[in-house]
Amino acid sequence: MKIFREKDYDAMSRRAAQVIAAEIAHNPACVLGLATGSTPEGAYKYLVDWYEKGFLSFTDVRSVNLDEYVGLSPDHDQSYRYFMRSNLFDHVDIAPENTRVPDGLAADTTAFCAEYDAYIRSLGYVDLQLLGIGRNGHIGFNEPGDCFVKETHVVDLAESTIDANSRFFATRDDVPKQAISMGIGAIMGAKKVLLCASGEEKADAIYNSVRGPITPKCPGSILQLHPNVVLVADEAALSKLIAAGVVK
Ligand code: GLP
Repeated sequence: MKIFREKDYDAMSRRAAQVIAAEIAHNPACVLGLATGSTPEGAYKYLVDWYEKGFLSFTDVRSVNLDEYVGLSPDHDQSYRYFMRSNLFDHVDIAPENTRVPDGLAADTTAFCAEYDAYIRSLGYVDLQLLGIGRNGHIGFNEPGDCFVKETHVVDLAESTIDANSRFFATRDDVPKQAISMGIGAIMGAKKVLLCASGEEKADAIYNSVRGPITPKCPGSILQLHPNVVLVADEAALSKLIAAGVVK
């Protein structure tokens, strides 16, 4: 695992955007696995800025997103489709038909999940998968549990995740209780993984993912088995790895 130690959120964002831009420069028709949440917002800002300056183009890029809340329409301002449009898709030259976000309104979620995996396979899997991480170690919405789930699936969100995400909704009751998430199979099938983290509250999840036992109780720990992971994090998120001498 290659680890970039960055001073703060902005430096983390810039470095993460550089890794994504380098992927696009290297392979203009790459498949990007994209993530939502507060963590990648800054990286998306850099990518939009560099697109506006003419440094990169998304014309031939295809994207698949990690997850979506069950029950939210694409126009709901807390849906992940809406997030992707307002943070990236509407501001760059990516073709809308080349972007996929799980359909939170799918009537038959079982069929939808199978189709989503089939689509990812049809692309030859993801070239670069961007990941944030939950405080409990979740990646995408793969919550801690008794096993790793390989396929795209419907997840019951952990109470701690509902708590963490309630900051985006008017009340805690408004937070959806379920989501559709890409499974561990598609994440591990990516040729390269870019894991990003910022802030003290991610320090345990990052330590456990990088140095803890490989266990579904910390889904991020499976990344220790991936041959090509880049971790970009600020010093607060790396603080436990720094204290343990793992990161200089
Ligand atoms: C969310 C998303 C994840 C994200 C994580 C951390 O619920 N499903 O993809 O990585 O939780 O979010 P944040 O970056 O806002 O801390």
